[in-house]
Amino acid sequence: MDEQAIIRVDQTVRKWLHADYDLMQKMMHKDLEVSEKTGPRDLVTNVDKASERFLIEKIRTFDPDAKILGEEGFGDCLTSMDGNVWIVDPLDGTMNFVKQRDHFAIMIALYQDGKGVLGYIFDVMNDVLYAGGPAVGVYANDERLTAPNNIPLSEGLFGASGPLVIGNISGMQEIIRHSRGMRIYGSAGIEFIHAFLGKTVGYSSFLKPWDFAAGRILAETLGLVVTKIDGSPLDMLSSNLVLVTTGKAQQDIRTIVNENV
Ligand code: IPD
Ligand code: CA
Ligand code: CA
Ligand code: CA
Repeated sequence: MDEQAIIRVDQTVRKWLHADYDLMQKMMHKDLEVSEKTGPRDLVTNVDKASERFLIEKIRTFDPDAKILGEEGFGDCLTSMDGNVWIVDPLDGTMNFVKQRDHFAIMIALYQDGKGVLGYIFDVMNDVLYAGGPAVGVYANDERLTAPNNIPLSEGLFGASGPLVIGNISGMQEIIRHSRGMRIYGSAGIEFIHAFLGKTVGYSSFLKPWDFAAGRILAETLGLVVTKIDGSPLDMLSSNLVLVTTGKAQQDIRTIVNENV
């Protein structure tokens, strides 16, 4: 896709996201229909479903030959990253949404033959859309973001998910001890944003493709490193123990992980 085509796609996706934002704003102040997926810590609401239906319908009309992966199952079953692949998390941070009506995001990613083209993380309650990709740079609404400082682990806060810390997976408690402190926000999208802005030196969690697809494109465009916790490449078709960090912190964490295998 040439740069002009990417800019046209970008303008279209921004319109969908703003319309989806309006839909969410209307629905979130009414009674939510909440149901459990695998248990009481894994919820889905009528807003997750409405958002996914809305976005997938827009993508299908716009790009009928593409494959679409959506968390709530309204898309396709994905077996390869060939061609155009759209990955949608219609509401990231559902537990925050249900309990706080805050700290949640809408995420969309477009990959072409496995390469990240455009990524979007919409921080709904702050009304800030983080958007872009390698051809266009990364923007927070209209402001172009610059790469965060390449600081080591010892100089930053580290975002980790609760289960990783509690289970001390891959030496997570040691990683945190080497940092300035731990933060847990309950939304992968919001955690990625903190890494883009240099508010944290990195983030790690077990994530599904829709949790990291957009964040990965934006983070890599900003010079951050996104891998599995052991430094190996991510698999876009399955769950991964994802690590997003500055280059320096990636080295620091690799040393700790190797000592804890
Ligand atoms: C969840 C959030 C959470 C992360 C979970 C995800 P969801 O996404 O991003 O922070 O720890 O692994 O499943 O289900 O609210 O879209
Ligand atoms: Ca979910
Ligand atoms: Ca998610
Ligand atoms: Ca979700």
